[in-house]
Amino acid sequence: MTRSDGYLLDNRQTEAAERFTAFATLFDPTTFRYLEGFGVGSGWRCWEVGAGGTSVVSWLAKKVGPTGKVVATDIDTSRLTPAARPPVEVRVHDVGAQEPPGEGFDLVHARLVLVHVPDRDRALRSMVKALRPGGRILIEDADPALQPLTCPDEYGPEQQLANRLRQGFRRLLSDRGADLAYGRRLPRLLREAGLRDVTADAWFPLASPACAALESATIRQIRGDLVAAGLATQEDIDRHLANVASGTMDLATAPMISAWGRKV
Ligand SMILES: C[S@@+](CC[C@H](N)C(=O)[O-])C[C@H]1O[C@@H](n2cnc3c(N)ncnc32)[C@H](O)[C@@H]1O
Repeated sequence: MTRSDGYLLDNRQTEAAERFTAFATLFDPTTFRYLEGFGVGSGWRCWEVGAGGTSVVSWLAKKVGPTGKVVATDIDTSRLTPAARPPVEVRVHDVGAQEPPGEGFDLVHARLVLVHVPDRDRALRSMVKALRPGGRILIEDADPALQPLTCPDEYGPEQQLANRLRQGFRRLLSDRGADLAYGRRLPRLLREAGLRDVTADAWFPLASPACAALESATIRQIRGDLVAAGLATQEDIDRHLANVASGTMDLATAPMISAWGRKV
């Protein structure tokens, strides 16, 4: 398993599964709308980069059917095993360090991946190279610098604490080489990579049960890192988790930028 990248949120921890479920609830409807718009269907060859869990991969598998192919790659494929049967092929692969796992893809998709990859320029080049002429690429990445708050409506100490912990999370990510303003760069980067018809938009929820589930799982997963880095105390974290569990907090995510284009 190649884990030379320093990725913060280990897929093998139990909280990772909770995070993938929350991502699916929050972001799959948007992702699937774009993919439907591209016309993904029978016989398509797709590369799902940094697939994480199974929701997008399983959706693609149903769309492409037995004559298609879905190559699902990740540096850690431990959560992908349930989807590993034709037309899905699961491979351990570092998108920032290895050659693409094939060529001539009709679709290449990555969600919440490139922001974490230190050599994200190489990763993007590799993803574009793997497309067939006319193929589509959809890159979706958070831009936490665009909207950095867990609680944009910071009206009390609970919200202030939530925002302080989010700031700590951002610090941990950037210390590991994440680009927290990557999302906004995507349309330009896709254009510069030679893609045509480049389009992008942004979306984020301001409050939803899935946001609370994501916040709780994320904070529990990075608890040790936050405390070790002096960014929070155990008491801060216990208090915040109790606040989140109370169901009275309006918790937002970072904006998700979705950018897509077509290879000529
Ligand atoms: C935040 S999760 C997103 C998972 C999934 N794409 C989703 O939207 O639910 C990021 C995923 O990227 C993977 N990842 C991180 N660095 C990677 C790299 N260099 N190459 C491939 N995958 C990587 C992680 O292992 C993890 O599964």
